[in-house]
Amino acid sequence: MKVLVTGGAGYIGSHTSLCLLEQGHEVVVFDNLLNSSEESLKRVEELTHRPVQFIKGDLLDASALERIFAENAFEAVIHFAGLKAVGDSVEEPLWYYRNNVVGTLNLLDCMAKAGVKKLVFSSSATVYGASELVPLVEQSPVRAVNPYGRTKEQIEDILSDLVAADTDWSVAILRYFNPVGAHESGRIGEDPRGVPNNLLPFVAQVAAGRRDKVRVFGNDYGTPDGTGVRDYIHVMDLAAGHIAALKFIQSHLGAYCWNLGTGRGSSVLEVIAAFSASAGRDIPYEFAPRRKGDAAISYADASAALADLGWTAHRDLAQMCEDHWRWQSANPLGYQPMPDLTDGDDHQ
Ligand code: NAD
Ligand code: UFG
Repeated sequence: MKVLVTGGAGYIGSHTSLCLLEQGHEVVVFDNLLNSSEESLKRVEELTHRPVQFIKGDLLDASALERIFAENAFEAVIHFAGLKAVGDSVEEPLWYYRNNVVGTLNLLDCMAKAGVKKLVFSSSATVYGASELVPLVEQSPVRAVNPYGRTKEQIEDILSDLVAADTDWSVAILRYFNPVGAHESGRIGEDPRGVPNNLLPFVAQVAAGRRDKVRVFGNDYGTPDGTGVRDYIHVMDLAAGHIAALKFIQSHLGAYCWNLGTGRGSSVLEVIAAFSASAGRDIPYEFAPRRKGDAAISYADASAALADLGWTAHRDLAQMCEDHWRWQSANPLGYQPMPDLTDGDDHQ
């Protein structure tokens, strides 16, 4: 299949593009590189020995998108492109709604015009808001508590209205829990800009000596050790979930929604301990007040994805930390090249 991957230079998109290529699909990536680097795709090519066609462009540029659909016969689209920082979305809601919701509308318009009606969409467990009725099932109430989450909720609604209006569409909505880890080669991984918001990249930077200590947000939750519990899922398992969903929508019309998680929760302290074991070093931490808007506990019931797609996550927390650490330690500055510390005089 020829697949358009929006946001394919990013963290989850680059790992999924690698899996698509390994499955023999042709990949065209469309990304504005706002939160990523083209280097990720060069490394995907290097790992797979297959080409990736990269088009730098923005979903808000409808004419650029139209051109791409005019020039390529896509069979399906995997739509990762979007902004994802909760804090930024609270401060700049219009930017988030425009980028995520209007960007998706532009994409859907072009797909409809071109008759490309198979879509896999990156949604998030964030749509469940602070619900603590775990495990979360796809039928759990959807009530996002921040603008980022509401963009996902709105896009899900748009997709179900679209499928209701035109039964030729096949749409898979994937609600990811907490993606972490990296490809086992350590060549591609998550490369957050600035101070990481999420736990794993922050812990990894502490382990690497880039930051002093981890601040554990809250130790008075009603969880076994008092710290927040999440369903961390290895990014390669997540990528495999996209391949399974893509295969499913080849032969099923309609809109479907699946949780992609492991079904197991780990606390912040368990994550720090697992990472410390993988990295073979102490990871200093201190307790800090709860972070606003955080749920105490969130993990998936992922049985629907197993039943419908035959997909389940295989990698455990130790492997997630090991792979994340391999990537972090080999690429301390992410995709940025390491500064050349050689003294010019040495070359005389
Ligand atoms: P990422 O930031 O690494 O990747 C997103 C990519 O989209 C980036 O390369 C960015 O440059 C690109 N992009 C953003 N806006 C664009 C636009 N208007 N036009 C073209 N390209 C644009 O993020 P990720 O972690 O790989 O997440 C991928 C998707 O999964 C996002 O939609 C995100 O909301 C969703 N998601 C992520 C997580 C997570 O914790 N990483 C959890 C749940 C859902
Ligand atoms: N945490 C800390 N210290 C940190 C960062 C996080 O203690 O420096 C704690 C949080 O309080 C939480 C847990 O670690 O208990 C996980 O936090 P993350 O920020 O890594 O992940 P969240 O579950 O809060 O949210 C993430 C993404 C959301 C996404 C959600 C589900 O940020 O966008 O996973 O996919 F929706």
